[in-house]
Amino acid sequence: LSSSNGDGSRNVGVALSSLPRITVSAPSAPPVVPGSPHHTVMVRVSGRAATQEQKQNVPPRPYPAVFRDVWDSHHVRMPCSPASFHVVDTLENTTSPRWTAIKQALSNPMRSVEEMERAVLYYNKRYSNRWHFKGLRKLIHEDFTEMERDHFLDVTLPAMCTLALRLPDLVTQPPPLLKAHYGHSITLSQLQISCLLANAFFCTFPRRNATGAETEYALYPDINFNRLLSNKLPRAIEKIKCIINYFRRVTTKEPTGVVTVVRQQVDNTDAVTWQQCSSQFTRLHCDDRGYIDDATGLLQVDFANRFLGGGVLGLGCVQEEIRFVICPELLITRLFTESLDKTEAIIVIGVEQYNKSTGYSDTFKFDGNHQDTTDSDAYGRKLSQLVAIDAVRFSRRAQLQYQETLIIRELNKAYAGFCPLDGSEGRPVAVATGNWGCGAFKGDPKLKALIQLSVCGYAERDVAYYTFKDSHLRNNIVDMHQFLLQNNITVGTLVQCLCQYGQLEREVDGSDLFNYVYHSLSSKVSSPDSSPGNSPR
Ligand code: AR6
Repeated sequence: LSSSNGDGSRNVGVALSSLPRITVSAPSAPPVVPGSPHHTVMVRVSGRAATQEQKQNVPPRPYPAVFRDVWDSHHVRMPCSPASFHVVDTLENTTSPRWTAIKQALSNPMRSVEEMERAVLYYNKRYSNRWHFKGLRKLIHEDFTEMERDHFLDVTLPAMCTLALRLPDLVTQPPPLLKAHYGHSITLSQLQISCLLANAFFCTFPRRNATGAETEYALYPDINFNRLLSNKLPRAIEKIKCIINYFRRVTTKEPTGVVTVVRQQVDNTDAVTWQQCSSQFTRLHCDDRGYIDDATGLLQVDFANRFLGGGVLGLGCVQEEIRFVICPELLITRLFTESLDKTEAIIVIGVEQYNKSTGYSDTFKFDGNHQDTTDSDAYGRKLSQLVAIDAVRFSRRAQLQYQETLIIRELNKAYAGFCPLDGSEGRPVAVATGNWGCGAFKGDPKLKALIQLSVCGYAERDVAYYTFKDSHLRNNIVDMHQFLLQNNITVGTLVQCLCQYGQLEREVDGSDLFNYVYHSLSSKVSSPDSSPGNSPR
């Protein structure tokens, strides 16, 4: 194995700095055009020209000017909707307007987490005996210093109540639901997101608490924060710290930017015949140091759950959950995104990073405030793009992943995420990825690397691949990539080879996958340079 190039430099492929990235002059995102049937724009924007608000660095005004409710199965059911009622008496089942109760409860001063809990239960009576915000209580009353506690109770918490209660003034239309098989985008301001998330923190969203297959939102992630606030595990408390720092920031200074969420799908007409694909492989930077989140300006992959954000409000604390609490605006996707189907992905343009972290899973820790200095595009969106794609979970029977149908499933899923967005111009930026589907979902990193390299070849995107401290894997991937390039192997040829591996008579577990690829493809290429001896093994 070559751990470094002959000159002692590390074996990382091309330089990261050479990969195409999002820039102010090439934002690589579609324009925000209000009035399109496929794009709901919840703020006033004026084409490519910066609005007056942007020039003055104040948040864009909401659109429409005054609250216009829609109470149906295609839109988020808003807590401030006149059609929303809460149960006043659980025995007699009497109800009264929900927003009146929320206003009443959140306008009272709260001198402790217990008082906040009582306020939240005032309009969530059904959960009176079930919700106990033990995690938040422990953090504020046991772990925080006196100064931190006082700041939260005296400054941040009242400001969060005020922010939540501005809902009908700030979010003047219910966001549409991003339903399965329905390509649609939503653009909303960071201020609107903060207001909606403040409502999530105080658990105001109706119909989002009951669980079970029969419930209206069974196919949506949960959004009210009750589960997270109730959890006393150290990692949950660290996640709450991230959320509190986010609210401290947005209540101290209103954010002025804009975020776009895109639900994208590859439909049948765009389906790729992978085994016939004649695309070549693109350039690769591969490193065991650094993380996806550090790859500024690249399309950063979220190793997602089909319910976006996965266990972020519960016990989960791996790549996706960590990303969602470092950049808490991502949590807003949970409000309106139906679970992803096989050929769908979510792209989020413009989120800001508010928090730093260290560790992973059980060792995860909030590591203080982060000041994100990333530039913004003409609409006020940070020059950041994240793509959520959910791999197949192989908790048992991991050998199934080498079967053709599942290889094709993963190729299509990655392509739903990596194909250039409709209306975006210029060369697509590189993808920053890594061991997608290979942690909690137990996939094989070598197979997933080849799948993602193939999709990037077809989508004409370069790749930055982070092996998460695994230098052995880094060498293997760089060597394999060089072999594919040097021998002019096409994406189609590699995919055929991967599928043949899965059809072998013997039981396969991936341990000899790369050797199999070297061996079978070396025998296929005819030039003297590409004899088996040219393979790095
Ligand atoms: N940068 C680069 N690589 C990383 C990073 C990072 N920041 N974080 C982790 N890895 P996992 P999955 C590597 O388990 O298997 C969540 O609950 C590391 O090698 O997060 O697709 C979701 O909500 C790690 O083992 O992704 C889903 O439910 C590997 O990436 C589920 O997990 C996979 O990270 C998805 O599981």
